[in-house]
Amino acid sequence: MLSKAGVGSRTEARRIIHAGRVKVSGRVVENPDHWVDLERDRVHLDGKPLAAQKKTYLLLYKPAGYLTTRADPEGRPTVYDLLEDLGRWIFPVGRLDRETSGLLILTNDTQFGERLTNPRHGVTKTYLVKTATRLEDAELEKLRRGVVLADGPTLPAEVQRVRDSVKHTWLEITIREGRNRQVRRMVEAVGSKVLKLVRTRIGSIGIGDLPIGRYRELKLDEIRKLLK
Ligand code: URA
Repeated sequence: MLSKAGVGSRTEARRIIHAGRVKVSGRVVENPDHWVDLERDRVHLDGKPLAAQKKTYLLLYKPAGYLTTRADPEGRPTVYDLLEDLGRWIFPVGRLDRETSGLLILTNDTQFGERLTNPRHGVTKTYLVKTATRLEDAELEKLRRGVVLADGPTLPAEVQRVRDSVKHTWLEITIREGRNRQVRRMVEAVGSKVLKLVRTRIGSIGIGDLPIGRYRELKLDEIRKLLK
């Protein structure tokens, strides 16, 4: 309940409960598995009634060099360094590698996050990729059909050659899954490497004129389209 109300992740919520900061109908409850009856029980956090948090949906243009985690033990910059303090907990929907730039959605709506990351719903993610070698048509075709990675074959992808130089290919790839380092591993599976990776689109939402390192709220119709 605490995590759904936007207080923190489930782990953080457990910590808050263990710390004795939560009262259910006037009694401190230190057991995170305590059953709460939404109709009858009143829940207080630090003495204040738990109010439903406003749902927040942000679209960030992440620069390379930022981790998609809250805090880094090594002190490296994270995407949270790019956000002002919103006074509420938000989490990234999926992850971008540290060296990947591009679109990242952050929200406190756990259901929305789940819908966007579950491959069952097939929300597309489009990436612009610069490869370390020039790729032949046959290699692009393999990427299209699906390649076998250590965690199983990939689903068919849309792949378009954008341009080539003597040593590199720039391509656009659209996938419906979001496995760890998926695009990098796909390109490695056809014998090359990713030199640069930018997520240019999530579903129908593109970068538009959002400057790198900045974020904006998603519009209602953008949220609706993502959920369709
Ligand atoms: N695929 C990757 O390899 N890295 C990302 O950051 C996103 C998709």
